[in-house]
Order: sequence, then structure tokens, then C-alpha cells
Amino acid sequence: MSSLDVDDLPVPREHRSTLFREILERRIARRTFLKGSALAGAQSTLLGQALASGMASSLSFKELPHGLDDTLHVPEGYTWQVVLAWGDPLFGDAPAFDPYRQTPEAQARQFGYNNDFLAWLPLPGAPHSSESGLLAVNHEYASSAMMHPGTPDPFGLSREQVDIEIQAHGLSVIEVFRQAGVWKTNIASGYNRRITPLTGMRFSGPARGHRRLRTAFSPEGVESMGTFGNCAGQVTPWGTVLTAEENVQFYFMGEARLTDEIRSYKRFGMHGSDVALSAWGMFHEHWNLDLHPQAGMHAGWIVEIDPYDPHSVPVKRTALGRCKHEGCDVVINPDGRVVVYMGDDQAFEYIYRFVSKHRYRPGDSEHNRTLLDEGELSVAEFTEGGALIWHPLVWGQGACTRANGFSSQADVVIDLRKAADLAGATPMDRPEEIKVNPITGHVFAILTNNVMREPLSDDPANPRGFNRHGHILEFIAPVGDHTAPEFTWEIFILAGDPKSPMDQARYHPDISEQGWFSCPDNGTFDRSGHLWIATDGFGKQGVADGIWVSGTQGSHRARSRHFLRAPRGAEICSPCFTPDQKTMFCSVQHPGEGSSFDTPSTRWPDFDVTKPPRPAVLAVVHKMDRALDG
Ligand code: FEO
Ligand code: CA
Ligand code: CA
Ligand code: CA
Repeated sequence: MSSLDVDDLPVPREHRSTLFREILERRIARRTFLKGSALAGAQSTLLGQALASGMASSLSFKELPHGLDDTLHVPEGYTWQVVLAWGDPLFGDAPAFDPYRQTPEAQARQFGYNNDFLAWLPLPGAPHSSESGLLAVNHEYASSAMMHPGTPDPFGLSREQVDIEIQAHGLSVIEVFRQAGVWKTNIASGYNRRITPLTGMRFSGPARGHRRLRTAFSPEGVESMGTFGNCAGQVTPWGTVLTAEENVQFYFMGEARLTDEIRSYKRFGMHGSDVALSAWGMFHEHWNLDLHPQAGMHAGWIVEIDPYDPHSVPVKRTALGRCKHEGCDVVINPDGRVVVYMGDDQAFEYIYRFVSKHRYRPGDSEHNRTLLDEGELSVAEFTEGGALIWHPLVWGQGACTRANGFSSQADVVIDLRKAADLAGATPMDRPEEIKVNPITGHVFAILTNNVMREPLSDDPANPRGFNRHGHILEFIAPVGDHTAPEFTWEIFILAGDPKSPMDQARYHPDISEQGWFSCPDNGTFDRSGHLWIATDGFGKQGVADGIWVSGTQGSHRARSRHFLRAPRGAEICSPCFTPDQKTMFCSVQHPGEGSSFDTPSTRWPDFDVTKPPRPAVLAVVHKMDRALDG
């Protein structure tokens, strides 16, 4: 195959046929029925536990000191291994990784670059196994200077190199198993899949078929090409994967200001060539707004993927709105409705919530896959008095009217930020991950930092001007009702150095020397309700990014402890546990960032002079094979 072209994409024409689609969906429904019922059991206990008092933390590892060097560290008694790194084969026919002879065709069969979100998914025959499962992994972006010999600038790449980078984006799905204590990949598995910016997808929800989504690629505005900028995500209770499209504005060239969408693109920060960080548009006209002025509207969505069917067509769920989606979390409310929490990661952007119209039905996969297409979007306002008010973003209500330029709910979801501005939402300090505590049902929002906030423009929920270190908020739904119009909220942690009066940090009073951190970015809860927090930006202050873990209740609340330290240049993303909590997977993203292929600041994890540093998925275990949450 010669280099790939947008115009001769492998778009499955068949899926336009209703007949084919029906057969496909019936097949998926059959396949996920068993898996769906297994997951439903686990989920229904979640809210049952919501009012439980929670377990006391018994985390007892010896904390790591702050520091920065070229390798990765875990506490004494723990060990780590690389499960998968950039370029590793995902299929039996994939060539071995050779960075000096890389091709787009090879990359299409190998693990992609800059892995971020990780999802653990049980295999259909073994819903409770912690020894084998699927990993679905986001590949957020490419780093030209770190990927290609000669350290090229993104705009100095050959077409072949651009196509390598396109194929290094998207997602990987791969079967993994643990044998004699070692995690391995099964490259013969029929589940393995690469999803890329060229994979055919479809739209659903209120914007599907809307004129503003019509492009040469999809004249009816119902199909979309691929996904990219995939940051975090979540597994749904019905066993699909949600992946969030974040920094999509860096991919489009051309003059956004000359399109009819000038206002909309401006509000999104999509300024075409003025902000493009990739040269895809030089070789592939889809990413050129001069030629395809609506193409930018195809990006910035939450995409739902069936990881169990490598032929399934991913769906962009427009009801969840279009922004720089960091990630999302999904809970089933006590009344059965599905609630999704989402952050828009940019300084002064907002926190959103979606409540499904219909109820979750355990085991009914066909029905559950429609839940994210109809419902109520809302945006958060935080008041002085400790209230969190959810303002509906529903066409015809409030400011979502024709007078304000919204002619339907399609306009509301496409111009989500504008709707939120008019609703009076609170501008936040870069909302990244939002996660629900499985023990208390409280919602934790991680805000990474915002140095653009002026000292006097602080507000109760973003209480520090020049917020260099970020913070974590906790939201409490009244009597566990995640659909309520009003919650209460409080501050969980104000990050930074507790010894520095300038930082105005806030933790448990007994925080240790190394227990404090900066720039919390993403995180997850283990089954005992500890929050595992991954940072992104501490490295730029001379202390390696890594993972800190904190209790959330009682005497361990906000007493974070330093568990893992990243190699130079890297951030850690998406801690993720096997059901028995004995393995924690996480992503080591962009090791060596800021240096180059030719003279890297680390060669982690291979430390081989013929290889650059490689982003990788890590497995961390206790040497005695103990659960990590105890
Ligand atoms: Fe992809 Fe906001 O981190
Ligand atoms: Ca970040
Ligand atoms: Ca992130
Ligand atoms: Ca990041």
C-alpha cells in the first residue's frame, strides 16, 4: 500500500445500508449481553455503597522522595514492568519496531504514540478475571522531534512521516494476560484493533445530519472520519469505551477566520494555521479549513467504541456537546438514569453534566447504547455559599434561543462553550479529570492550574490568583441524586508546597515532605475509595511528575502520599486497576519531552542507544502480590 490518502479511505460503504446496520447491531447486542449483565451487577452495588461510611485507608508503603532523573521509581516492595511501548506489534503480521525504517503501514499494525487513557475490560468468558483482559488505550498526540531521526520540525516532515504520525494517533485495543507474574500481550487475539484518524465513524444525537456537519467526506453530515487528540475516557456500565477528543484545534490548517464559522471557531480556539501544530493539512485536505470549512466541526466530541467487536463503527455522541473534552465519568443514578460528568480542559472553561432521558436496563445492550443520544446537558456554576447550580443547556430554555443564534439543540451542542457563557457558568482553572468516588458517591474534579487567573479574579471554587499548582474540588449530590439541579461542593486539596506561604496550599495537616504535589491532571479511585492522582506539569518545576494517592475520608482525607515517579520529561496518565487491585496499569506519556530523537534527555524504558525514549503502558505490582489498595 502506498501512503494513505483521505480520498481513498477504507470507509465501510456497507454500513450505510440499514439492513447491514441492523444485522451489525443485533450481533453486537448478542455479544455484549452476557458481558453487560456481569457489569451491571458490579454497578448496582456502587450506589448501594454510596452512603456507606467507607473503609479506613491502610496504605502503608514507604513514600518516594521528590526528585528528577532519567528513570521510573516505585516504592520499596513494589516492582514495575513495561507491558507495551510505542511501536510494539499488535498483530501477528506486524513488523518489529525500527525507528530508522518506520513506515505508515508498519505503524498501522503497531502500538501508537503517547498513550494516555487506559481502560481495563474483562473478556466475555471471564468477567471477574484479573489475569487476562483487554486494554483499550488512547494515543493522544505525536511528538515529531522525538519520533523521527534528524529531529524534524512538524512542518518539515515528509508525507511519509506525516502518515506515520497519523497512524500513531487514535486508540489501540489489545488482549493482555499475566503469566508467572509477568504481563504479556496476545498478538494473536481476534480482539486486537487499531483505531486511527482515518477510521470511519458515525454521528448520533442532536447534531447528526445537521448542515454544520456536512463535509465532502460526509455530504449528509452523518459520518465522520476518525478520532485524534484522544485524552482520557471511561468504560460505560454496558461495556463500551468512551474516548474524549481534546486538543483538536492543533490539527487544522487554513484560514478559519474566512469561514462562515468564524465566530464559532474563534470561541473554540480553532484558528487554523495560526495555531496548527501538525502539517496533516499539507497532504490531506480534510485538515485544511480553506478546502473543507466544516471539517473542524467533526472534532471535539466524545466517541463511543465497542472494544469487543473490531469491526464495529465508533459513534460520536453529539448529545454530550463539543469542546476540548479531557475525559468523562459515567454513573448510574439510583433512578436508573445515566449521568456523565465532563471537563473542558482550558483556562477559564467549564464543567458539564449530562443526564440521560431514558433509564439504564441491565443486560439490554441495544437499549443502553442509545442512552447517550437523548438527555439534558447542563453546566456548573459555583456560588459563594457552597452551592453548585447545574444550568440546563437545552434549546428553547434560558439563553439557548434563536435570539442568541441557536436554531436547534444541534447549535447548542456544537457551540457548547457559547451556550455555557450565556448560562452564567463559572470559569474554572482548567478542568481535567472528573471521577466519582465508589464509596461515597461524591464527585471529584481535578483542576490542573491556571496562571492566567488574575489575583483579584479569584472566586470561591477557584480561590487562588496565578494558580500555578491546581486544586481538587469535591461535589456532593443531595441524597446521592446525581440528577439534582443543585449540589453542594467543597475544596478537597489546594496543591502546591504546604510549607510555602505564597502557595496557600491545603492538605491534611500531617502531610509529609514528599506528599505534596503540583498540577494534578487525571486520576482514578480504587475500590476502597482512595484517589490516585497523576500530575502533569510538576516536571517543569524540577520535580518529576508522578502519582500520589490520598484517602478521601476521615483521618486520611487529603493526606496524599507519593507513590510513583516518572522519568524525565514524562507525565503519568490514567492509573487503572485490575478487579483484584493487584495490578495498577498506567501510561508513561512523552518521556524525554523537550529534548530530541538524536539527543534525548532519557532513553527510558529501553536504555538502548539505537532507540529513542518510548511512551509505554506500565504494570505496577507488589512483590508479594498484595492488593495495592490495602
Ligand atoms: Fe490531554 Fe488535558 O490533558
Ligand atoms: Ca494536562
Ligand atoms: Ca490529561
Ligand atoms: Ca497531558
